[in-house]
Amino acid sequence: MTAASQTLVQSLAQLTPEQVELRDDFIRCCRDTRQTMPARWLYDHRGSELFEEITTLTEYYPTRTELGLLRDAAAKLHEAIGEGRMLIEFGAGSAHKTPALIEAIRPARYVPIDVSGDYLRESSAELAKAFPDLEIEPIEADFNRAVPLPHCPRRLPIIGFFAGSTIGNLTPFEATDLLRRMGETLGDDALLLIGMDRVKSLDVLLPAYDDARGVTAAFNLNLLHRINRELDCNIPVEAFAHEARWSEPRTRIEMHLVALRDVEFSLGGERISFGKGATIHTENSHKYRFEEARMLLRCGGWEPIDAWSDPADHFTLFLARRDS
Ligand code: AVJ
Repeated sequence: MTAASQTLVQSLAQLTPEQVELRDDFIRCCRDTRQTMPARWLYDHRGSELFEEITTLTEYYPTRTELGLLRDAAAKLHEAIGEGRMLIEFGAGSAHKTPALIEAIRPARYVPIDVSGDYLRESSAELAKAFPDLEIEPIEADFNRAVPLPHCPRRLPIIGFFAGSTIGNLTPFEATDLLRRMGETLGDDALLLIGMDRVKSLDVLLPAYDDARGVTAAFNLNLLHRINRELDCNIPVEAFAHEARWSEPRTRIEMHLVALRDVEFSLGGERISFGKGATIHTENSHKYRFEEARMLLRCGGWEPIDAWSDPADHFTLFLARRDS
């Protein structure tokens, strides 16, 4: 083995399987700039902190609107869902909203599913303090695959909760797949409460993804910092700028990183170059009209049975029943 290939093997061996996946996804995305980086790479520890900060921005309406809906519709949610269910939450990053839902529907058991064990432990500990009678059983897992639920001797009826319009990260094609897999996880007769962001004026949409303080820009650029940190790379981050674009045909916000000049760097032995103006597409955030949202749920195997929206129709909470 040559010295050079030995060094390559050594540096490869130091990467975790997840880092190998990050590198391969990034190289693929750089070779063909029409590709999108899977959005989950934005959410390392720093990225999750920055996203938390985004949810507190005046420009970012989804979080406070959804929380307002959970509070305002509490009595209606109680009526439609009833008490004593097993509540399965997909993604615990939204655990801020969970107390409002728990107060509304008083579940017997709470099962948060998240890939981040740290977030799970933190939010579970807080909820245990606030709701001492609630049984909490966190599961560290990727909810994009079907997740076996913990054995429950009492056969409680189930309700899934998927907050924050996280479904919007996926294309409609991928979203219907995820909805079907959630149906497999939750089982027959389950209910699903899901937040979905709506199509609205660009005067509201664009600032929500390009705020005045630059928090969203920092969130987007953190992807490059992360790659530099974890893959021992030297991307000149200052040569890229955050851009939020609206795609009218796809009714989605796209986050891009635009090269401000010609850029060249190497990653895992590959030369990567960007011409000035080329972009890395880092995230999608799909928006749905009311009837489109209902149709998406139906295509994913869920029959919408109720819906709550804010007066401006910025955001909607859908309640659906598994349709098998
Ligand atoms: C976590 C996918 C719901 O799309 O609004 C916010 C992510 N990205 N600002 C969204 C995000 C930039 C967020 N979701």
